[in-house]
Amino acid sequence: MSRETVLITGGAGFIGGHLVEQLLKKYHVVVLDNLSTGKISNLPSSPHLDFLFGDVSKVSDIDNAFEIYTFTYVFHLAAVASVAASIEKPLETHQINMDGTIHLLNAAKKQADTIQKFVFASSAAVYGSEPTLPKKETSVIAPMTPYGIDKLASESYVIAYSRLFGLKASAARFFNVYGPRQNPDSPYSGVLSILTSCVERVSNGDEKAIFNIYGDGTQVRDFVYVDDIVSGLILLAESDESTSEVFNIASGENHTLLEVIAIYEEIIHQKLPLRFESARSGDIHKSYANITKIKNIGYRSQTTLREGLAKYHAHETSQEVMVLI
Ligand code: NAD
Ligand code: UD1
Repeated sequence: MSRETVLITGGAGFIGGHLVEQLLKKYHVVVLDNLSTGKISNLPSSPHLDFLFGDVSKVSDIDNAFEIYTFTYVFHLAAVASVAASIEKPLETHQINMDGTIHLLNAAKKQADTIQKFVFASSAAVYGSEPTLPKKETSVIAPMTPYGIDKLASESYVIAYSRLFGLKASAARFFNVYGPRQNPDSPYSGVLSILTSCVERVSNGDEKAIFNIYGDGTQVRDFVYVDDIVSGLILLAESDESTSEVFNIASGENHTLLEVIAIYEEIIHQKLPLRFESARSGDIHKSYANITKIKNIGYRSQTTLREGLAKYHAHETSQEVMVLI
């Protein structure tokens, strides 16, 4: 029997690569990506995977994909994922993070009869720093950066297209995602990718390794393992109840940075060298999610922080062994 076809924009990125891996078990997967931050090495090799080099801010690149294929699901992950980059280059970011979403929705609208779900990757950044916790989908929305503003506008477009044109669509607000293949190389990379890279250096006896804590380490986050994000995205795609709705995807746990560091120290049986720096300006002190809405349609967060960090560390260690071989 021939496989149904799924489009993943941004499929060569950190989260996209994990989603591709999972969807290849059942579907033919088409990745549309301009490799600005993504890498071909994030993609498995498979006869069921097609890679289209293309830019979501170019209508012709999107139309080309929709002329070749008829899609059952569309996952829209392509974006400038760095908040700092969005502050530095708001207009360029907007052309990708906002205009790109509209171009994709316009193309998907023409396949509204066959697309079972259009799923958009939004962010907890839409909540901003309003202090009420935990964040529910109905909490105050107050984005503070171009990145958060474009995510909010995009998810509003996604839901509007769902209601106006019958394109079945949902949006997912990810909290702090972590796991293998997250890029630790920028100072604005996700904190757990930076911490994990420090853990690997310390485990290998690197005496210069040090982890900078911005603030006193009491900031709180809801860290969600990438496999749980992937299962949440697939649930939203396959569920009828998710249509025209926005959902948080998170772990439902919350931890201070100092707690996370203590867990890693237990895993590697070593102390991590820490340096306390001033808190970053605009840093949100506490952010964590209420995940009741997505749990009510069947989501279960499978990976505790301790399990996730142990898996992440084991993955990084096995990569180093492969490099040495
Ligand atoms: P990533 O940078 O690894 O992935 C983004 C992918 O999009 C990359 O492969 C990149 O090459 C591609 N891309 C960027 N601009 C493009 C363009 N103009 N045309 C085509 N492809 C383009 O980041 P990620 O962490 O995997 O993020 C995936 C999605 O999840 C993004 O939409 C991001 O905003 C969202 N998100 C991520 C987090 C997180 O904690 N990582 C949190 C909230 C939301
Ligand atoms: C994250 C997202 C951002 C989103 C926001 C919404 C990433 C990279 N950023 O920002 O897209 O808008 O959630 O909730 O996923 N820290 C250190 N040392 C470091 C790096 C960071 O102490 O080396 C601290 C930061 O100051 C912050 C915390 O760790 O207090 C988390 O930082 P980070 O991973 O950058 O994510 P958020 O700021 O939560």
